[in-house]
Amino acid sequence: MTKSVIELLQKPKVVGKKQVSPRGYFLEIYHPLVANNAKPGQFVTVQATELSARQPLQIVDTDLQRGTFSVLVEAYNRPTVELVELFAEGEELFNVEGPSGTPFPVEKYGTVLVVGHGWGAGANYPVAKALADAGNEVYVALVGGSRENIYCEKEYKELFGEDRVFVYTEDDEYGREGGAPQAVENFVNEVGTPDLVVFAGGAAVGEMVAEVTKAKGIKNISLVPTMMLCTSGLCLTCRVKVGDKMVQNCLEGPYLDGNAVDWKMVTFRNGYYWDLEKESLEYFVNKLLPKLKRKKQKAQKGE
Ligand code: FES
Repeated sequence: MTKSVIELLQKPKVVGKKQVSPRGYFLEIYHPLVANNAKPGQFVTVQATELSARQPLQIVDTDLQRGTFSVLVEAYNRPTVELVELFAEGEELFNVEGPSGTPFPVEKYGTVLVVGHGWGAGANYPVAKALADAGNEVYVALVGGSRENIYCEKEYKELFGEDRVFVYTEDDEYGREGGAPQAVENFVNEVGTPDLVVFAGGAAVGEMVAEVTKAKGIKNISLVPTMMLCTSGLCLTCRVKVGDKMVQNCLEGPYLDGNAVDWKMVTFRNGYYWDLEKESLEYFVNKLLPKLKRKKQKAQKGE
């Protein structure tokens, strides 16, 4: 859909916000340029305020009529907590960049098992849709530590039918018991060996899924959740070893050959600054957030 220049130049704005779990929110963001150009598997980088850190987020869906796209935000670090705690419907964001990354290689593979662990279910949603449109037999496994980490179940079931969506929780509270590797093993035993496994979720789980697909000789395309700073190929923060090549994940990823990714390196690098990130989050939640909320309330009352 063609948008006017005026529409395209408007600031990105939160136009929809829905809490779907204690830490999980869907945000619908007005940004016609991203909505018009996003391809399955791509992401955006959101900077909530001038002083906020930049946060990459996978695009879950687009609405061309409304000029919007949706993201699933799990509030786990300072930028994501800031985004869900301080921004309501109708409020402008400082900056949104994207769509970034290489689109998922959508082609006819045959039978595809799409595995989303926690937030990965949202990331995989446009990919699963596109793979089905390309003529693949798509099945979905949604996996979470517990029920509150299962996302997009209704949306996937509407798209693929109840019998093609398998839900697993690691604490046996909901659906079948087990994690992402068990979901792949069970699928092979009960349905057959898929031609492709698509995975999105944490790096440690990605490594376990890759162990299963490698052992069984199944092609694996996984979203690799590396740290990212510039998201434009300049800083090299997102480097990841894939086979014998170093790849810039923000340009060539985030979906890469899961059987060839050095998952241990990804997990190690992701944990490198975790203590500092935790400290920064605690400071933000305990000291800054209450002040920022008070300031916002005053501004809204015109004080
Ligand atoms: S995030 Fe900077 S090069 Fe990829």
